[in-house]
Amino acid sequence: MKGHTKMRLKANGITVYVTKSYEEMSKKAAGIVMAQVIIKPDSILGFATGGTPIGMYKEMVRIYQNDGVDFSQIKTFNLDEYFPIKRDNQQSYAYYMDHNLFKHIHIPSNNIHIPDGESCDVALECETYNEQLYQNGGIDLQVLGIGNNGHIGFNEPDVCFEARTHLVQLDQETIEANARFFASEEEVPRQAISMGIGNIMHSRKILMLVSGKSKANIISKTLFGSISPTLPASILQLHNDVTVILDEEAAEEVLGNPEYTRLL
Ligand code: PGA
Repeated sequence: MKGHTKMRLKANGITVYVTKSYEEMSKKAAGIVMAQVIIKPDSILGFATGGTPIGMYKEMVRIYQNDGVDFSQIKTFNLDEYFPIKRDNQQSYAYYMDHNLFKHIHIPSNNIHIPDGESCDVALECETYNEQLYQNGGIDLQVLGIGNNGHIGFNEPDVCFEARTHLVQLDQETIEANARFFASEEEVPRQAISMGIGNIMHSRKILMLVSGKSKANIISKTLFGSISPTLPASILQLHNDVTVILDEEAAEEVLGNPEYTRLL
């Protein structure tokens, strides 16, 4: 395992790559997504937002521009969207995806799916999103980040795992973490539409990106701790094809845990 990887591990069945920096993590992740598109040009890709995958999208655009990888047949489903939010609000995930990826590649707009933060019937919107996922045969490769509280998508810590796309009340911790993208904390929407844990777990492959010291503890608990809805990402231990890419800072506590197996 050369190139962007310093080390490759298995942790509770999950393949973990440790890279030396955010840039290396992003390149490694972009390589995996681009390989998926090359191998299966009509892949269904699940995309994530937030600060972590920005470098990956940038690298995907660079590869697209240099090597002309064809995105015209892929279909995309985003994990979540704030609710309510206008599509043209610069903090909406619709805007984020357009700005960071879609406007730079050729992809038919009908192939793009993001929950509608402007919907006037949110229950119907959730049901429609579930149906679209189902009709398209589910996701081939789902990209994930992880929240400081262990959320995936906007599935916040809870007493049970929510299976399907649903309306979420955001945790105070999430509102505070995401306030950095808004002019003030008050402006962060209090709700979001999110794919459920079942939607995510039905993906055939999952790729999680984790960067920075602040995530070192939660990713270690995710990989080695008990599986519980109080740490939603822990359910990934039950999926049979998960790859996690860490930068060195995020890997600190994982590498301090003796329960991993180092792969050659
Ligand atoms: P971040 O968010 O990449 O901005 O840290 C990750 C997440 O909340 O899933």
